[in-house]
Amino acid sequence: MSSASGLTGPAAPGGGRLGDPLPGELLDDGERLTREQLRELQLERLRATLRHAYDNVELYRRKFDDAGVKPDDCRSLADLSRFPFTTKADLRDTYPFGMFAVPMSEVRRVHASSGTTGRPTVVGYTENDLSVWADVVARSIRAAGGRPGHKVHVSYGYGLFTGGLGAHYGAERAGCTVIPASGGMTARQVQIIQDFEPEIIMVTPSYMLTLLDEFERQGLDPRDSSLKVGIFGAEPWTEAMRREIEERLDIHAVDIYGLSEVMGPGVAQECVETKDGLHVWEDHFLPEVVDPITDEVMAEGDSGELVFTSLTKEALPIIRYRTRDLTRLLPGTARPAFRRIEKITGRCDDMIILRGVNVFPSQIEEIVLRTPGVAPHFQVQLSRRGRMDHMVVQVEARPGAGPEQREAAARTIAQGVKDGVGVTVEVTVVDPETLERSLGKLRRVKDLREQ
Ligand code: DLL
Repeated sequence: MSSASGLTGPAAPGGGRLGDPLPGELLDDGERLTREQLRELQLERLRATLRHAYDNVELYRRKFDDAGVKPDDCRSLADLSRFPFTTKADLRDTYPFGMFAVPMSEVRRVHASSGTTGRPTVVGYTENDLSVWADVVARSIRAAGGRPGHKVHVSYGYGLFTGGLGAHYGAERAGCTVIPASGGMTARQVQIIQDFEPEIIMVTPSYMLTLLDEFERQGLDPRDSSLKVGIFGAEPWTEAMRREIEERLDIHAVDIYGLSEVMGPGVAQECVETKDGLHVWEDHFLPEVVDPITDEVMAEGDSGELVFTSLTKEALPIIRYRTRDLTRLLPGTARPAFRRIEKITGRCDDMIILRGVNVFPSQIEEIVLRTPGVAPHFQVQLSRRGRMDHMVVQVEARPGAGPEQREAAARTIAQGVKDGVGVTVEVTVVDPETLERSLGKLRRVKDLREQ
């Protein structure tokens, strides 16, 4: 990225410059392990987790018994593949607390994810779980360039969603000053950023776009703000979106990943100095990638569905949880002992099958973001025309784009989708500020086919 905010950026509190690798003395104990030590620790923790789950959760006991495996059958990390998967349905079926492995009196907090259908999924944390969670988020913030003394503006929603409180306690643990803004009240958020001058923002990338528009609406140049680093996650976002946000805000944009069932934010984090995918904090979360159809464990480097087993969780040990997120495992770089996951650009359930062709909203995002004359706001609508599926991509014009530029943009996007994805779609360029704005996680696809 440009030198304005890049590796030559201003000094961070505590020395060093934003974008510099984390100095060795700031690495925590887990980060100092060699790969071999880490694998030993993983096996020890995995065996304890399988035992804890089997002894204390009826559902795990039943599933292990049905599969003919006992916790002690796990003698190597590879043996994990003999154990059954856990899915969101298991959590729903035992709603609300049926998969908790400790007495309720030891559960200090619950969170829940709304889900799109039916009952929410409820997750619980012991005091130790909350402490581990704060540790991994603090580690993530340091990897993103955060240092003690930085101010962190948290715009992830506070409440049952894990984003706000997860980021909050992690930032405190990292020695930062937290500004607990939560989501919404966009004009006031911009005011607070102007007045409190945070170096770091933690927010969904789609809500960051809403905030950027608000800066501009107030006549402010976001590039002049105090922000130096954005830690973005909770929804898929592309490299094109990273470039858009880095340019408009003049910051480093890095990726944070997590999910409630496994912990919340802080399961994996991109390092600011490499921005090459997310290091999985493998001392607490053991990743696998499986073929979503055959359930076979895939080799490192092959794409498939991400599966996690928790290694230290007490209240809700989770064994081989099917995330539905699509990615691949890669060797570690900036933290050599920890493997990386490639940036997640889709979920099994987001995949649109349009006349037999698989389409991900992220593919549309890449194309929209490289097209002149349109803003990075778009929506996808699916409907039925006769017996054929029909897809309309609605994109917002940039302010000032005239009819000719809009028509050209529509043609460019339609052609880009045809060439790049292989399907014919209708593209409509709508007026600025007409599409729904994100206040947190954005739903880009409206599927009207079943109505
Ligand atoms: O979204 C936890 C979180 C909060 C992560 C804040 C990062 C920042 P859930 O609501 O349970 O938890 O949703 C989890 O969100 O399975 C992915 O599909 C998606 N997701 C989360 N982070 C990313 C990311 C939180 N960095 C689901 N890239 C996951 C792509 C992500 N998708």
